[in-house]
Amino acid sequence: MCGIVGVTGNKNAVNILVHGLQKLEYRGYDSAGIYVTSDKGPDHLVKRTGTIDNLKKALTPEIKGTAGIGHTRWATNGVVNRANAHPQFSQDDRFYLVHNGVIENYKELRAKYLKGVKFTSQTDTEVVVQLVDHFVVKDGMTTKQAFLKTLGLVGQGSGYAFLLMDREEPDTLYLAKNKNPLLIGVGKDCNVVCSDSLAMLNVTHNFLELHDGEMVVVKPHSIHIQDKNGNPVHRKPFHINMDDKDTGKGPYPYYMLKEVNEQPNIMRKLTTLYLDAKGKPKIDHKLLDKMNQADRLYIIGAGTSYHAGLVGKNLFEKLVHIPTEVHVSSEFAYADPILSKHPFFIFLTQSGETADSRVVLTNVNKMHYPSLTITNVDHSTLSREADYTLLLHAGPEVSVASTKAYTSQIAVEAVLAKALGEVKGRQIAVDFNLRHQLSLVATGMQSVIDQHAKINQMAKKYFVKSYNAFYLGRGTDFYVALEAALKLKEISYIQAEGFASGELKHGPIALIQKNTPVVGIITQKKTAALSRSNLEETASRGAKTFTIVRRALAKPGDSFILPDVDEMLTPLLSVIPAQLLAYYTSLNKGLNVDQPRNLAKSVTVE
Ligand code: F6R
Repeated sequence: MCGIVGVTGNKNAVNILVHGLQKLEYRGYDSAGIYVTSDKGPDHLVKRTGTIDNLKKALTPEIKGTAGIGHTRWATNGVVNRANAHPQFSQDDRFYLVHNGVIENYKELRAKYLKGVKFTSQTDTEVVVQLVDHFVVKDGMTTKQAFLKTLGLVGQGSGYAFLLMDREEPDTLYLAKNKNPLLIGVGKDCNVVCSDSLAMLNVTHNFLELHDGEMVVVKPHSIHIQDKNGNPVHRKPFHINMDDKDTGKGPYPYYMLKEVNEQPNIMRKLTTLYLDAKGKPKIDHKLLDKMNQADRLYIIGAGTSYHAGLVGKNLFEKLVHIPTEVHVSSEFAYADPILSKHPFFIFLTQSGETADSRVVLTNVNKMHYPSLTITNVDHSTLSREADYTLLLHAGPEVSVASTKAYTSQIAVEAVLAKALGEVKGRQIAVDFNLRHQLSLVATGMQSVIDQHAKINQMAKKYFVKSYNAFYLGRGTDFYVALEAALKLKEISYIQAEGFASGELKHGPIALIQKNTPVVGIITQKKTAALSRSNLEETASRGAKTFTIVRRALAKPGDSFILPDVDEMLTPLLSVIPAQLLAYYTSLNKGLNVDQPRNLAKSVTVE
């Protein structure tokens, strides 16, 4: 949420910043801006509303420099307009700042220190840059002292990542972070800063992570990190094994389609990474020992990750026979849960940065309960702060609508459930041939993806002209119905809801009218007949119904047949047509599939 980039020591600063912002556009696309400077020439500030393409159009050849900062915004404080875009600057045009986060006490700080200061935006960020200027100009502090003093004033509750420049030190970047991500990329004769390493893979593959409360001064040939007590910190860079070109769209028109198409191979990759040739899970024994001591699992996640957690509950309860609760992180964070005696927490998060989930992890750590993060991003905040991490290995997920993270989360949960079930001596876990099942899943996913033309037609027939739609299911089919509806609503703006089939008659059926599209997901033998009759009840009231059915349960007249896999893993297949239905609905409506309105990926504010 909001993307930050910075560079010092490179005459291609503008290109580096713009390329980086394009890679970070998934974090926000309300507006964007850069500030560039150099020892010699003039400095430049350029900001535009809308996407990075709008910013690019405003960049003329004379706008150049050797150092600079850039930002792509997801608006929090202040409407979307050019004045509220970042970088924000001080009233004397000396300091420039980009920021990701929310400053909770910005009004108090403004009232206390900045009376009479001329403000040009409605943002909380401007208060911070004006404060730095105030302490330098009025109190005679150095920029570093003023930045540190300002950081001390910003409430501890605030999450921030700041990147500051002083036009009088054109090769220096000042940065700090609390709760929100920020990395330093170590280049050759130049250093860079970014919210996500994806942004700077064309400059370097070596990155330094920053911890909360640290402040850093970066120059072309030096990086000085200090902790919150002012002590120097020496940290080794880590290496990212990925190429800049691997992070592009390739031949696909949208990242979402690319990411949907990657799923069969990710299933194969996870099989080899997490299961040995005999199908034994390859999971750290320390993690399994810890989990084995637990009397209850608590799965925490937001959005699609929460939905993947619901599917995980079924896997853990069946294979391990351990009670498993699944909670929406933003709710659990402020609830007063009655925990079991020996809880074990599993955090599901694609980005590893979701603020709502992190609040829960912070509380869990305070109570010294053990935790595991299942994430796509190594070195991410939730990965660092949990006791254990399992990686999704899905490659960067750029489209705002999460697809491959959902299926890889379920696959990793399945491996973990099998592993723990085996530790507990559960025969069902020993007998569960996950290696074989995941290979069926991979082939099955491909056969669904290959029917994209048919799915496109279904999207046109059922959804494109509708203003609402419903997905129904029971058990794990209900969990997929929730995810299917989320996909459809977030990228096509159709009011879509997932309901438990049996619950429909207790209220929601009142919403059914002539031609309301209703999709029945039917993959579970035990409930198939009931699900069908619930779907029929909507058809009798005029709904335009269609079915997504596992082959073994199919009947004449079913609309979309899924290949057969173990019932515990059917969500890995039934979600694929739903992902593609959402994709084609959005596409046929002429919308920007990857960048739906009002949204951003990696939600780092609560
Ligand atoms: C929906 C979507 C979001 C995320 C949610 C959690 O398509 O992408 O609902 O799933 O914001 O994000 P992570 O998994 O990064 O914690």
